[in-house]
Amino acid sequence: MTLKLTVNGKRHELSVPPQTPLLNVLRNDLALNGPKYGCGLGECGACSVLIGGMIARTCVLPVSAAVDHDITTLDGLAQNGQLDPVQQAFIEAQAAQCGYCLNGMIMAIRALLNHNEQPSTQQIRAALEHNLCRCGTHVEILQAAQRAVV
Ligand code: FES
Repeated sequence: MTLKLTVNGKRHELSVPPQTPLLNVLRNDLALNGPKYGCGLGECGACSVLIGGMIARTCVLPVSAAVDHDITTLDGLAQNGQLDPVQQAFIEAQAAQCGYCLNGMIMAIRALLNHNEQPSTQQIRAALEHNLCRCGTHVEILQAAQRAVV
């Protein structure tokens, strides 16, 4: 079965089983390695992307559910050689330790800012509530998220 996906503004036609997790298609078929495999259960956020500007966990989302939607991965946030302000804020705040969770953190904050340009600290915390960081750099991650709010 051929599925058509729009990822980071590019159209792709792929022959994959429709129940394949979107994460597998992004990483294995399209070589987009921004989204990470963490838990595989929809619980850690490492695999997050934006679908229609909203956060989505791709390890538990069949690729067929993403057809006809605009998918944006971490790889597609930067435009015209400029990092997304959220990416820039995470660099400036030195929010990474191992960095594995940062895809999910950055995408969660980007999704929040897409719908609320001036979120409160409480709203930022809520947006990150279900994203796990095993290194414990939550303080720096929250500082980065605050920095991303203009
Ligand atoms: Fe998808 Fe953990 S890998 S939520």
